[in-house]
Amino acid sequence: SACGSGGDSASGSGSGKLVLGFSQVGAESGWRTANTKDIQEAAKAAGVDLKFSDAQQKQENQIAAIRSFIKQKVDVIAFSPVVVTGWDAVLKEAKAADIPVVLTDRAVDSDASLYVTFLGSDFVEEGKKAGDWLVGEYKDAKEPVNIVQLEGTVGAAPAIDRKKGFEQAIAANPNLKVIASQSGDFTRAKGKEVMQALLKAHKDIDVLFAHNDDMGLGAMQAIQEAGLTPGKDIKIVTVDAVKDGMQALADGKFNFIVECNPLLGGQLMDTAKKVKAGETVAKRIVTVETVFDQAKAKEALPTRKY
Ligand code: AHR
Repeated sequence: SACGSGGDSASGSGSGKLVLGFSQVGAESGWRTANTKDIQEAAKAAGVDLKFSDAQQKQENQIAAIRSFIKQKVDVIAFSPVVVTGWDAVLKEAKAADIPVVLTDRAVDSDASLYVTFLGSDFVEEGKKAGDWLVGEYKDAKEPVNIVQLEGTVGAAPAIDRKKGFEQAIAANPNLKVIASQSGDFTRAKGKEVMQALLKAHKDIDVLFAHNDDMGLGAMQAIQEAGLTPGKDIKIVTVDAVKDGMQALADGKFNFIVECNPLLGGQLMDTAKKVKAGETVAKRIVTVETVFDQAKAKEALPTRKY
């Protein structure tokens, strides 16, 4: 192989299996749970020795996990960075130790020479798809359409990029106005709490754009508890398309979901194997995704795996 390390390089298990250290963001959403499960199953299927670490949405935990993977001399390190900034030092340490790094799901702002590839969705595109749907939905609107936005984790790539793509798309219709935008940290509980506050502060909300299903589901409860009908009084557009979100969409409580595919495990194992074998991989591997309206959600729900 092209590994270059020769002979019995310390690979942890000693079984000749590829050892992959993976630092996960946490378990903040249904998407994340599906992503974790898929990665664990794919590792098993591919005969990869997976060292899995859950960072509970804290960057310092991720940095500690990566340092521990370096110490253990794993073959490949993969991680889904909770935020975009602050990775240079630890990525340089991995590079100095000659351990290739694969970014999974989320991007970093470090120099691209510090990682081998970034495997995941185009979040700007996802935000655009959400905005494009609203532009179409309100093409005949003669009055302002008041939108509130529930953003993901502050500083996270999907929060930054979905917001950007959404704003770019809705600029096509000057009636579409974001009147408030706040982080709900990608969780159901925070989504509900922030929406309760937004409903108190604004009596004229027409649309909610939530950066993931879970925040949308939490907000949906807040809307119902405020005596309003989600999907009608306030239209709800989200990202992810996990089962609970798809159920809300099929039930008419959500109006549109942009898919974000969490099933990255197979691609991650393939990529890790190629990287270990010294093969070149594309610097950016973009996930293929679709969108769902209420009718499409009804069709897809019975066979939805997560
Ligand atoms: O990085 C992907 C995002 O993280 C998903 O959209 C969200 O649900 C998750 O927490």
